[in-house]
Amino acid sequence: MAILLLFLSSSFCHAVAGVGVRGGRLPPTLATRRQYAAGDGQSVAAAAVPSQVKYETRYFTQRLDHFNALPASNGTFQQRYLVNGTFWGGKAAPVFVYAGNEGDVELFTNNTGFMWEAAPRFRAMLVFIEHRYYGESLPFGGNRTTAFADSSATGYLTTTQALADFAEVILSLKANLTACKAPVVLFGGSYGGMLAAWMRIKYPHIVMGAVASSAPILGLNGLSDPYSFFDTISNDFKSESKHCYDVLRNSWSEIDKALSTHAGRARLNHTFNMCKGNVDSIPSMVENALIYAPMMDYPTPSNFLTSLPAYPVREICRAIDHPTSGNDTVSRIKDAMTIYYNSTGKLACFAGAGDDDPFGMFPGWTWQACTEVIMTMSYGISNSSVFPPVPFNLTDYLAGCLASTGVPPRPHWIEAYFGGYDIRNVLKRSGSNIIFFNGLRDPWSAGGILKSISNSIIALVEPKGGHHVDLRFSNEEDPEWLKKVRRKEMRIIADWLKQYYSDEAIDSMMN
Ligand SMILES: *[C@@H]1O[C@H](CO)[C@@H](O)[C@H](O)[C@H]1NC(C)=O
Ligand SMILES: *[C@@H]1O[C@H](CO)[C@@H](O)[C@H](O)[C@H]1NC(C)=O
Ligand SMILES: *[C@@H]1O[C@H](CO)[C@@H](O)[C@H](O)[C@H]1NC(C)=O
Ligand SMILES: *[C@@H]1O[C@H](CO)[C@@H](O)[C@H](O)[C@H]1NC(C)=O
Ligand SMILES: *[C@@H]1O[C@H](CO)[C@@H](O)[C@H](O)[C@H]1NC(C)=O
Ligand SMILES: *[C@@H]1O[C@H](CO)[C@@H](O)[C@H](O)[C@H]1NC(C)=O
Ligand SMILES: *[C@@H]1O[C@H](CO)[C@@H](O)[C@H](O)[C@H]1NC(C)=O
Ligand SMILES: *[C@@H]1O[C@H](CO)[C@@H](O)[C@H](O)[C@H]1NC(C)=O
Ligand SMILES: *[C@@H]1O[C@H](CO)[C@@H](O)[C@H](O)[C@H]1NC(C)=O
Ligand SMILES: *[C@@H]1O[C@H](CO)[C@@H](O)[C@H](O)[C@H]1NC(C)=O
Repeated sequence: MAILLLFLSSSFCHAVAGVGVRGGRLPPTLATRRQYAAGDGQSVAAAAVPSQVKYETRYFTQRLDHFNALPASNGTFQQRYLVNGTFWGGKAAPVFVYAGNEGDVELFTNNTGFMWEAAPRFRAMLVFIEHRYYGESLPFGGNRTTAFADSSATGYLTTTQALADFAEVILSLKANLTACKAPVVLFGGSYGGMLAAWMRIKYPHIVMGAVASSAPILGLNGLSDPYSFFDTISNDFKSESKHCYDVLRNSWSEIDKALSTHAGRARLNHTFNMCKGNVDSIPSMVENALIYAPMMDYPTPSNFLTSLPAYPVREICRAIDHPTSGNDTVSRIKDAMTIYYNSTGKLACFAGAGDDDPFGMFPGWTWQACTEVIMTMSYGISNSSVFPPVPFNLTDYLAGCLASTGVPPRPHWIEAYFGGYDIRNVLKRSGSNIIFFNGLRDPWSAGGILKSISNSIIALVEPKGGHHVDLRFSNEEDPEWLKKVRRKEMRIIADWLKQYYSDEAIDSMMN
């Protein structure tokens, strides 16, 4: 409900209370999409998981604070990680680690098919580490309420702490396996991809290479065009048809107008078939679909939390341009929502905005996006957007953050710590072994590294690609460009490993 009020409000200053467009704190992982559809009674987690996803769940006693010797800092918590060692070639064979992002690690484990498919070929061990404050890895006794009770409890939720956690788990695991020389390749998508790239930069002695998929490391404050996220979305729709773009642009005022009268509300209720007549959440429901369809603009039908046809942006525009329920704007939008929410045909009624958070993402991401991961690339909406415009105003945004978290945001800390300015020259001189994949349909690609930096810091860019499409399980219907990207990634990783073993061999000959 908060989302809706903010959506219709012209004042942006209270916007941080919400999570949608007006909230400005959109979690980068598409999995954070809230559910607006109901009716088939299925749990969102029930999306089919390929049968090869089998792992062992383990817990590691992790230090609460890696960077202080204060008495309060020596607390610990149980950090979850998932392992599959079936393919592992032993001691010197690679360990493929997934850098958990803002949610239940199982979700990423179950959707990162690339690692499952690469493991046999590389004789790699698979390890998926959960990010602190998400899933089960909650400090303060594993109790979510306590972990998010106040800023002195949530204050240990930072990217630097999370990377230090990963380092400790990896070192401990390798020590326990007496596999100190096993090379580690880190994978991540979205925020996890940002972590993967940053970890390769900060912990080169622990991580030998990183596959950073759809990682908007340039989407942060000061580095990005604050309108770029929503401009990319608008261009996606415009690329399908100018008419579709125009209908979407004009739909907000039509829906608002209808919402303002009894007759209009009844018509909306009838047209949309809203559960419980919940017409007030139509705008946020539409907003949700228009944001996430471009991220999930995958070339084959997908079933990541919701069933979507191949290229859902094209299908949405087709529905708008060739409506079946009526030629007026509201009917066209209804047909578009059918593509997004009802492609299975099983939806009895459109549910309103849900407050559900099945993968435990919102409390943590809300905190992170206000304290340090200030991803301004999604905080403004330009006048030519398919969404109603929102001028970018960092002052307002930061004030709202201070009010909601109680701690002053640090809008430049991430760049100070990880870099970002002049990144090409900096990484050319100091870095190596990173793959940056981006699909240009994905709005987060506007904050990605889109040009190769050196012969081992390689950008792979696909005009038709969606959000970390490369990491998904392969599929017989995958287009050639996607197969090629994955082959290329495999080859690059193989090159890194070859180089690694060759360096180690030379080293041992010299000693
Ligand atoms: C690891 O994954 C493979 C492939 O799906 C599976 O056959 C094996 O049982 C899994 N191993 C463990 C320990 O779960
Ligand atoms: C930290 O260590 C001190 C000294 O051993 C102990 O008194 C204190 O309870 C510990 N704090 C936590 C949070 O475990
Ligand atoms: C992930 O897959 C496992 C094994 O198939 C399943 O038990 C679990 O519920 C799935 N979790 C999520 C969040 O999809
Ligand atoms: C978590 O802590 C809260 C507040 O102390 C308490 O009410 C709740 O029962 C706890 N939950 C669990 C699962 O222990
Ligand atoms: C390594 O072994 C120690 C001792 O059994 C254990 O406490 C620790 O959790 C293990 N490390 C990992 C990453 O599981
Ligand atoms: C919406 O429609 C349903 C049935 O289609 C009806 O039961 C409900 O009363 C309507 N609500 C409003 C607010 O019009
Ligand atoms: C939309 O208008 C066209 C042309 O006037 C007409 O042929 C078509 O039947 C209308 N579609 C609907 C769903 O009303
Ligand atoms: C979903 O699609 C089915 C099949 O076309 C249809 O019967 C049903 O009414 C649709 N649900 C909604 C909420 O429009
Ligand atoms: C949008 O248009 C308004 C009014 O014309 C103008 O003041 C504002 O600067 C424009 N915003 C952007 C982001 O271009
Ligand atoms: C941002 O908003 C504040 C008030 O909320 C206002 O004083 C300031 O001028 C705005 N800045 C810009 C660049 O519009």
